[in-house]
Amino acid sequence: MSFVEDIFGLKDKVIIITGGGGVIAGAFSVAFLKAGARIALLDRKQENIDRQKDNIRSETPLIDNVFGVVADAADEASVERAIQETEKAFGKPNVLINAAGGNRGKTKYIETDIQAFESILKLNLIAGLVVPTKVVAKYWIEHGIKGAIINMTSMASYNPLTGVWAYDAAKAGVLNLTMATANELAAHGIRVNAIAPGFFIGKQNKALLIQNEETGELTERGKNIISRTPFRRFGDVSELAGAAVYLCSDRASGFVTGVSLAVDGGYLIDNV
Ligand SMILES: NC(=O)c1ccc[n+]([C@@H]2O[C@H](COP(=O)([O-])OP(=O)(O)OC[C@H]3O[C@@H](n4cnc5c(N)ncnc54)[C@H](O)[C@@H]3O)[C@@H](O)[C@H]2O)c1
Repeated sequence: MSFVEDIFGLKDKVIIITGGGGVIAGAFSVAFLKAGARIALLDRKQENIDRQKDNIRSETPLIDNVFGVVADAADEASVERAIQETEKAFGKPNVLINAAGGNRGKTKYIETDIQAFESILKLNLIAGLVVPTKVVAKYWIEHGIKGAIINMTSMASYNPLTGVWAYDAAKAGVLNLTMATANELAAHGIRVNAIAPGFFIGKQNKALLIQNEETGELTERGKNIISRTPFRRFGDVSELAGAAVYLCSDRASGFVTGVSLAVDGGYLIDNV
């Protein structure tokens, strides 16, 4: 086995990815499979899982190492069932990627629709971290599994973005709970980290960033973001894969917990 395989290989990993049908989950999936892992795509919609499987098939022949499970990451019983089904398919899961999340449009603060606010908060914080982390960490503690969790933080975890108030609040909470749960679960050998993507085009933010899909013309917000990103471009989701493989691998990051790793073309360190 080469040094790189030894340190970054994921042959011993069974990885549950919530929001498994999403754009970032897709990039992670391909990387995890190529590194030797088996993965369970947990999504609330079968059609998203099916589409993701088609994407994966176009990138790697390792599709037999992919298991799809329709479940709601906001619902404890649903996540418990997903763990059982994953265990039947591939053995006990030992990595959780909390990639369910998303955003919907922007509003002035005083026009906030409270129901919409609650739903985004629930998606990104409750489904995006709280429920799967609770259920999976409990399972790991009961089975003595020293698992690893990766949460999805955001640029909004550090500096609020305008107009997306619930997303700001939720992602600040994701960063906070990444550190808090890392501390709490360290006693069980469970690592909790996060990846903070800069700006990558996903289903959730396409409308906010792109004015015209055919010409690629950006919205004012999209142009503003590029001007504040020292690399002067959006990221390509494939550029998130290395961070994810690193944080999954105990040999590469076994002493790393509670960090949020920014993959952002320098957005967080932009200055005047
Ligand atoms: N795309 C970006 O630029 C970016 C930047 C920073 C952070 N993020 C975060 O990364 C994560 C993934 O983003 P993406 O752009 O790939 O999102 P996406 O919109 O492409 O995919 C999200 C997936 O989550 C699924 N989902 C939603 N609610 C669910 C639930 N309750 N249970 C199970 N599945 C559910 C959806 O069906 C969808 O397939 C999110 O947390 C997002 O906030 C994305």
